[in-house]
Amino acid sequence: LDSLDNETDATIESTMVGPLWARAKYSQLYPEILDDRHASSLMEKVRELYPDADGEFQVLEEFIDELLGLAFIIRARTFDDKVGEFLVTHPNASIVNLGCGLDTTFERVDNGRLLWFDLDLPDAIDFRRRLIPDSERSRCIAKSILDYSWMDDVEFEPDRGLLLLAGGLFAYFEEQTVAEIITTMASRFPGSELVFDSSSSGGNRIVNRRLRKQGVSGIDHEFDAKSVNQVEDWSDLIRVIDWFPFFSRVKRSSKWSWRTRFMMAMNSLLGFAKFIHLQFSVEC
Ligand SMILES: C[S@@+](CC[C@H](N)C(=O)[O-])C[C@H]1O[C@@H](n2cnc3c(N)ncnc32)[C@H](O)[C@@H]1O
Repeated sequence: LDSLDNETDATIESTMVGPLWARAKYSQLYPEILDDRHASSLMEKVRELYPDADGEFQVLEEFIDELLGLAFIIRARTFDDKVGEFLVTHPNASIVNLGCGLDTTFERVDNGRLLWFDLDLPDAIDFRRRLIPDSERSRCIAKSILDYSWMDDVEFEPDRGLLLLAGGLFAYFEEQTVAEIITTMASRFPGSELVFDSSSSGGNRIVNRRLRKQGVSGIDHEFDAKSVNQVEDWSDLIRVIDWFPFFSRVKRSSKWSWRTRFMMAMNSLLGFAKFIHLQFSVEC
């Protein structure tokens, strides 16, 4: 939280508070999109831990407008739906939430049988564990995604199935790094699936400009999935099984401002942000 101060560089871990704040606020406003009561109680706990951080929460209030707030709950809902679909055919699956931050997807989708792994940087996991303890079927991995030893910490049994989620994570890396991470996962977890979101270069420019305006530096958005074909070109093991513009599968509400609805339509038209669902092939 300290790094959200206007005068300092933000740490990458500090990006975990915004999505929680947005899920807490916007899931209360639009429970028909995302029912995330856990996020609200977690946000209360964060406020209790930081009683003097009103200024920092004000930064979030200003940065996360209606469009961005809705984007966070739409992303969470999209991931919930993807997990739900996967569990129909793989009820005992392992699910890995990469760059989990203070995400509470496990609490929303748990079917009583799956195994859940939440991975984030050590400092982020330290903070997360103060708020969300590990449980019998849900545990944290305190490692960078770039430290590939995390792949040994995940229980992978091809028959049970493995689904990887990466929400708001790949944007912080360059394309070559994302390609390496995904091709490594593809060869390590054959038959598994990965769902992630990605902005376009135009979308990244908008986010970076807004961060600057807010006085936040050091957490620029870099990677953009220019085209879905580009992702398949990284390896013969990667197949795109679904992709769609970020706001295309949500019913627009007349309760949202004209600007929000316009920006969502423009996003779909110009391809600013999208979800991509990959399957890793079992054969070379
Ligand atoms: C924008 S937040 C998204 C958090 C979460 N997915 C959500 O939607 O609430 C990005 C997260 O990625 C994590 N992250 C950044 N670099 C990472 C790395 N190299 N390895 C693992 N996690 C990383 C940050 O610590 C942060 O929690």
